[in-house]
Amino acid sequence: MIFATTSTPSFTNVISTITATEIFVLSLVILLVFSWYLNLASVNAPFAGYRSWFEPTFLHKSGKFWVRRIDGDTLILSNNYLEELRLFPNTVLSNAHAQYQNIKGKYTYASVVLHSILHTRVLLQQLTPKVGFYALRSKAAFDEAFYSLMPRSKEWVEVDIQSVARSIVARMTGAVFLGAATARNEEWLNISIQYPMDTFQTAFQLRMFPNFLHPLLARLLPSRYRLQGHRRRAGRIIQELITEHQRKVEAGEKTEDTLLEWMLDNAVGTEGSLEEMKSRQLVLTLASIHTTALALSHAFYDLCAHPEYVEPLREEIESVTKEFPSNEDFVNHGLQRLEKMDSFLVESQRLHPPVMMSPQRVARKTINLQDGTRIPSGTRIAFPSAAILNDSSVTPDPSVFDAFRSYRKRQVPGEKFNHVRVQTGKENLAFGHGKQACPGRHFAVAEIKVVLCRIIGEYDVKYWAGQVRPRTYYLDENVFPDPWAKLHFRHRGAGAEAASGKGGVAV
Ligand code: HEM
Ligand SMILES: *[C@@H]1O[C@H](CO)[C@@H](O)[C@H](O)[C@H]1NC(C)=O
Ligand SMILES: *[C@@H]1O[C@H](CO)[C@@H](O)[C@H](O)[C@H]1NC(C)=O
Repeated sequence: MIFATTSTPSFTNVISTITATEIFVLSLVILLVFSWYLNLASVNAPFAGYRSWFEPTFLHKSGKFWVRRIDGDTLILSNNYLEELRLFPNTVLSNAHAQYQNIKGKYTYASVVLHSILHTRVLLQQLTPKVGFYALRSKAAFDEAFYSLMPRSKEWVEVDIQSVARSIVARMTGAVFLGAATARNEEWLNISIQYPMDTFQTAFQLRMFPNFLHPLLARLLPSRYRLQGHRRRAGRIIQELITEHQRKVEAGEKTEDTLLEWMLDNAVGTEGSLEEMKSRQLVLTLASIHTTALALSHAFYDLCAHPEYVEPLREEIESVTKEFPSNEDFVNHGLQRLEKMDSFLVESQRLHPPVMMSPQRVARKTINLQDGTRIPSGTRIAFPSAAILNDSSVTPDPSVFDAFRSYRKRQVPGEKFNHVRVQTGKENLAFGHGKQACPGRHFAVAEIKVVLCRIIGEYDVKYWAGQVRPRTYYLDENVFPDPWAKLHFRHRGAGAEAASGKGGVAV
């Protein structure tokens, strides 16, 4: 049933979890129904049942409505409110509090995000300004592991692209956060992939029940016990890195310049403690691994569904690689020249976002909006990003996959630097918007492009005969592609390798 969509490899574990939980489902149905009636709305807006945010026309009429979720309601606002709301700091409207509620952070060890923003600071102040430097490192980790993850076979072979994408992204992200050695450490790679899955699984199981049952239920969930195991192992790995960093600093030796080291050097108060550093690294895996891996997987599904884009993308990859043959130039100058690929990614994300609602916020103070709407402190709000981008007044022919929409928009004079993947706006909410927009997005897009260049450049990809684009599953506001959907890849031979952004210079 529905948990299968969380796409965990340990499927048998999931099944046994469900059976355990289902006993509770039955015995608690009455309490559950009762709790629906206890959810009293405090903003005067209509209520809508599940999936109503699919319907953009409804939103345009009312401007705001509530979506019910058993563990708490969300006020959905039209993007017309974004201009006013995007500028509020996180002390007034907080994304971290919204995510904390989504993942049931109290029971998934995520409270660090509520009292420290070091994980965001490091991305805004170090990763993004030096994105070329860090993307180069993650590219090295990717190139090194490439053929251990992708079969170098000239025959068609089946590839579990979602699993490969997670492994690739775990290495690329690990290399910048924790360094080259940890990006090869299989124990850390496993943790960084499993931790988010077990967090989501714990959260979704709790979400099926009203809040007052969570303390009891949380003690019974196997996924939560697995989280504790991941945390113990992560603690040992992070402790070693902290000790090594301190040793180097004291000995005056050159450090590796990882993001963990930057955080240690810039930590205030308890921020530098092992407990917080460990939790923060794990929270970062939640934000960075699966979002990026899903974007990559969807890009391949879309490419198979629309093979007419393979040639134009490949031509672009080849010409950019020729112009910037060294890894360093390729990353620093080439990636932003991949304009067709960028546009393809915008379109892929438009139709296949990881969440239906973005950005999301929790009001930490009562806010009175210019049109008189009052948002009481504690209200959860969200914007129906998927519906907005699927609305014909925003995107003409919204159900058509038209990969070069943004590319064409950029050809208009004055628009050259707009409509790009990293940009956020009222009508481009894939990375959220405003002051709290995704601080990892420049790195994420660089990472995705590096991977696509090499795989599209070196491989042919297709569905099996008769296969169609994998089904999409919805779990509350989350969207997952069919976890069992496989693709078929065939290596194009040595000639293709040189033209795939692989780079002529070893790093
Ligand atoms: C395609 C990949 C990704 C997508 C679609 C994505 C999407 C998002 C979205 C929608 C938000 C909320 C923004 C808002 O509320 O306005 C967010 C926040 C965040 N993202 Fe990303 N993200 C991606 C990759 C990454 C990566 C690679 C990192 C880390 C390197 C990262 C780190 C974060 C962090 C730390 C936050 C929380 C910011 C805060 O609470 O202030 N993300 N992301
Ligand atoms: C990592 O996970 C894989 C697949 O689940 C497993 O085979 C391997 O033993 C794990 N390695 C470590 C070091 O935990
Ligand atoms: C977009 O809208 C069409 C109908 O207008 C619907 O069939 C489709 O599922 C929607 N897609 C998304 C991603 O919401």
